[in-house]
Amino acid sequence: MIIGLVKEVLNHEYRTALLPVHVEALRDAGHTVLVQSGSGVGSGYTDHDYREHGAHVMIKAADIWHRAQMMVKVKQPVSREIKNIRRDQIVITYFHFAANPPLMRAVRERKCIAIAYETIQLDNGSLPLLTPMSEIAGRMSVHEGAKFLEEPMKGRGILLAGVPGVAPAKVVVLGGGVVGSNAAKMASGLGANVSILDINLERLRYLDDVMPANVITLMSNAENIRNEVCSADLLIGAVLIPGARTPCLVSRKLVAQMKKGAVIVDVAIDQGGCIETSRPTTHEKPSYIVDGVVHYCVTNMPGAVAHTSSKALTNATFPFILQIANKGWDRAAMENSAIKRGLNIVRGKVVHPNLPKSSR
Ligand SMILES: NC(=O)c1ccc[n+]([C@@H]2O[C@H](COP(=O)([O-])OP(=O)(O)OC[C@H]3O[C@@H](n4cnc5c(N)ncnc54)[C@H](O)[C@@H]3O)[C@@H](O)[C@H]2O)c1
Repeated sequence: MIIGLVKEVLNHEYRTALLPVHVEALRDAGHTVLVQSGSGVGSGYTDHDYREHGAHVMIKAADIWHRAQMMVKVKQPVSREIKNIRRDQIVITYFHFAANPPLMRAVRERKCIAIAYETIQLDNGSLPLLTPMSEIAGRMSVHEGAKFLEEPMKGRGILLAGVPGVAPAKVVVLGGGVVGSNAAKMASGLGANVSILDINLERLRYLDDVMPANVITLMSNAENIRNEVCSADLLIGAVLIPGARTPCLVSRKLVAQMKKGAVIVDVAIDQGGCIETSRPTTHEKPSYIVDGVVHYCVTNMPGAVAHTSSKALTNATFPFILQIANKGWDRAAMENSAIKRGLNIVRGKVVHPNLPKSSR
């Protein structure tokens, strides 16, 4: 198969979807890999590194889109990429269609095979290709929250950790999955008082067992959300319903009741966000203020730590990419139910059950 890798074009996106070592493995399996010049620079890899591992390095992205049978990316294609997608071409990336109906419409029109990393799901329900980026985003959410709590960033002027004689900050985490538990681990490690809210009691039991004493777990219901949100210095949105738009758990009215200068980091923004006042932002302009509350809603947080996240991403994605390259998408999906769940759009037809019915 001819496999294409292009430089990511989204704002401040430095990750790459294949490292030189993966190009070598694909070449050894009999495939041809076309790599756009500069694809790996943000993650610490030169064109020379890719060539040494067997890639054909090309200058123009359009030429790669034109020739490749499978395009391997990190983030969803932007409009100038979408127009290059060909009929029957496999495009594998994070699409997050549920939060982006215009993207879904545009990709359907191209009649390609769209496989979304975020819905590749094992039989036990876990999402192996979301996990590494969620680990990173969860950990980063606390760095970013701590930074935006500083006064020059329009925050409350609170040190997350406190100091002897001064109380630490209160961090509230909505959703105790991968993002939420990593955020809680970081925030509690810094000394903050942390509460995690989730609807899954089994998960809360597990978190209660493994988290340190400065973390409490609470059932996610309207009353607990109200009480916790109003007393939070840092609120982290980490809720997910796989493949679906994130439910809105915090209304605009509740945001208005938060402390002035409190910070919201809505990590779940890539699936629509779980706070009514959240809207997507970029690394270039990551924050804005509503009712005195600082909002940070960057949709590609791990893109800022690309040296770490390209390795973490490809550790997880590459085994699936190799299977699809070796077998073709249809046989790979037939033989591996996780890959089947990754199929979102097949030749214009929406096939994932959690995507809006109206779009099928
Ligand atoms: N912004 C970014 O750069 C970035 C990066 C990685 C992940 N994400 C996003 O972060 C979100 C969380 O991902 P994850 O990997 O932690 O998912 P996960 O499935 O591991 O965890 C989600 C948790 O939300 C809980 N939940 C569902 N409904 C809830 C409710 N009403 N109240 C409280 N909890 C509820 C679930 O029980 C689950 O424990 C996703 O939207 C994901 O796409 C964003």
